[in-house]
Amino acid sequence: MRTEGSKAFYIHTFGCQMNQADSGIITALLKQEGYLPAESEDDAGIILLNTCAVRENAVDRIEHYLQHLQGLKKRNKGLIVGVAGCVPQFQREEMFSASPAIDFLAGPDTYRTLPLLIEQARIGLKPATLDFNAAETYEGIDPFRQGSISAFVPVMRGCNNMCAFCVVPFTRGRERSHPFSSVIREVQQLVASGYREVTLLGQNVNSYNDPEEHRNFAALLDAVSLAAPMARIRFTTSHPKDISEALVRTIAERPNICNHIHLPVQSGSSEMLGRMNRGHTIEDYRQKIALIRSVIPGVALTTDIIAGFCGEQEQDHQATLELLSEVQFDSAFMFFYSERPGTLAARTLADDVPESVKKRRLQEIIDLQNSISNKLYQEAVGSVEEVLAESESRRSSQQLMGRTATNRIVVFERENYQEGDLVNVLITSATSATLIGKCEHSDVHRS
Ligand code: SAH
Ligand code: SF4
Ligand code: F3S
Repeated sequence: MRTEGSKAFYIHTFGCQMNQADSGIITALLKQEGYLPAESEDDAGIILLNTCAVRENAVDRIEHYLQHLQGLKKRNKGLIVGVAGCVPQFQREEMFSASPAIDFLAGPDTYRTLPLLIEQARIGLKPATLDFNAAETYEGIDPFRQGSISAFVPVMRGCNNMCAFCVVPFTRGRERSHPFSSVIREVQQLVASGYREVTLLGQNVNSYNDPEEHRNFAALLDAVSLAAPMARIRFTTSHPKDISEALVRTIAERPNICNHIHLPVQSGSSEMLGRMNRGHTIEDYRQKIALIRSVIPGVALTTDIIAGFCGEQEQDHQATLELLSEVQFDSAFMFFYSERPGTLAARTLADDVPESVKKRRLQEIIDLQNSISNKLYQEAVGSVEEVLAESESRRSSQQLMGRTATNRIVVFERENYQEGDLVNVLITSATSATLIGKCEHSDVHRS
């Protein structure tokens, strides 16, 4: 167990891929100052929660976790607990009242101050750095990465959209992009050190704007795919109003850019999309889908849906179900609306759909989407898929888990393959979330 003043730290990450990438930046920053990652919470003298504020239940989970940490603090005198990320950025100093366990707070733009915050916390202060810094991209930090096959590369931070339901513009601040040249350099370094897959990250990647030469995201994606021709290239998230024809054509033209697009629609009703301030109608969305399908053969589309947003009527909900039936998304992240204080919706719209109705509509959406995913996955049985093996499967060390280019999870008998191999897998069965298969022996590509 750790001792007082210990330099061992443990990070517990909640939320999106951007937060996961940020935890890698925090780790690198702390290591530079002589702190060391601990194997587990019990070995740590500093515990950091990197938090998510997107829905109320995400915040509840963090509050629950803080209760557990308070218990731990009673046993481990001198343990320092910091809360970082979107929740303190959003709740500001009030966050301290959530739990006496909290020693310091840091927002997403202030991670360079973490060593100072830890030192101040050690002498009993309760410091907080919560300023936005629209210039901060953590340029020059080489993030620590878990795993050695698939890497996240943030290309922009923040969000300038104002979707009425969404807290992210308030937790992440204004958009800013990483320089084109530094993204390319980072990708080249990753590939040189053996990574086989790179996912370019941003809250709205289509708003990417190179601060040096003002090149756009289609140009960046093209250049990244050329710089890493042997790696798979992915990106997320695209906003439907901003996805361009140039981008769609780039995906089709470059063989190593995966043919999967995550395109959150949120609702099938234009009335709701207007109220959500999404900046597009459902007809616009249908046109984008038609363009994507006509240009990229075999593309897989996934989406996000919110059930029960302000003023949603039964007919709006039916329109969402119809859209799901029509588009046949491969899979979807589905949520019921959770009002977030300070957002456009919280300030201007009534959260008037009763919780029981939100939950019933969400369940109908989930049931329909599961049946669609199940059908699409069953259709893959008998086909041979190229799978990038990522890790041992959770169930057995004799099985590997990987993904198809369309981002479907595949579990297969390991035989003599290893993580990082591109394996041709014959799909023998499927559930609505996983394909199961066995290797086709003729073809092994190893880096
Ligand atoms: N930047 C991304 C996603 C941000 S948050 C984008 O623009 O798509 C991820 C998803 O969480 C959103 O797509 C939305 O479906 C969901 N979400 C965001 N705020 C929410 C809220 N207040 N209640 C329920 N779901 C929400
Ligand atoms: Fe939130 Fe909309 Fe920005 Fe996505 S695009 S992060 S949903 S405000
Ligand atoms: Fe991500 Fe949650 Fe923040 S989704 S940007 S960690 S509010």
